[in-house]
Amino acid sequence: MPRLSQPHLLGIKNITLRDIELIFETADNFKEVINRPIKKVPSLRDVTIANVFFENSTRTRLSFELAQKRLSADVINFSASTSSVKKGETLLDTVNNILAMKVDMIVMRHASAGAPHFLSRHIKANIINAGDGTHEHPTQALLDAFSIREKLNGVKGKKVAIIGDILHSRVALSNIFALNKLGAQVTVCGPPTLLPKYISKLGVNVELDLQKTLAWCDVANVLRIQLERQQLKYFPSLREYSLYYGITRERLDALKKPIVLMHPGPINRGVELSSDAADSRHSIILDQVENGVAVRMAVMYLLAGTAS
Ligand code: CP
Repeated sequence: MPRLSQPHLLGIKNITLRDIELIFETADNFKEVINRPIKKVPSLRDVTIANVFFENSTRTRLSFELAQKRLSADVINFSASTSSVKKGETLLDTVNNILAMKVDMIVMRHASAGAPHFLSRHIKANIINAGDGTHEHPTQALLDAFSIREKLNGVKGKKVAIIGDILHSRVALSNIFALNKLGAQVTVCGPPTLLPKYISKLGVNVELDLQKTLAWCDVANVLRIQLERQQLKYFPSLREYSLYYGITRERLDALKKPIVLMHPGPINRGVELSSDAADSRHSIILDQVENGVAVRMAVMYLLAGTAS
């Protein structure tokens, strides 16, 4: 039975190209399964998985839960806002209490970068990082790359632009690691205040001009302006941001070439993306969501039973 080379998915930085390829090949099979009239397989029967979310989520939490149910796993859901974390219980105590109920795998989202890495040093269950602060969001990067591979028949050599709030984005960092491993060319584009100083050291091009970036790329992955993480003012107003960096239908149509438009969600409609662009023929945003279920099924299937 194929397995990933490590017992956790903590980030893309430290996984191998072969692991990514194995996840994609397995997700191809699961995508076929979830499009059948009977969408369920017994692959994770008798495996118990806890979705432990310390931050809000729609897509990631529901996608993991649906993926677990499609694989016949037993599922429990924990939301910090309604838990004893509110009474002062620590992360490690919380997770150890969940594991005492014979849970095999933890899917965790946490506001602190490195929280799943910390857990992996203290517990025996498989851990999947569902987003840790501004650090990594590995399954988002995997489903993004899987969607590019599906739409453009591969990722190698493709020109991918990541546009917007790179500074606060765990999606950007995981995407950069994944796309570099898969041989894509990557450009990051945004206002200088939202581009980290170290970014060019990650092997990406840096471009401040949106129209030049759109003219160059095959794929534009547009990121949300993360106002909830911005302690400072990084641009004068949302209106000005939208004027210089907002993707509109007119901007896309003016390119007179095919372009694939992506967004990890949730979208700030009218800020980084206009509604008519988000819903245009260029957009594969809902395909990304569909692929998220198959990719997450693959990750959990390939990790199950590997924790010691
Ligand atoms: N893309 C993403 O992580 O969305 P959610 O925050 O809704 O899970």
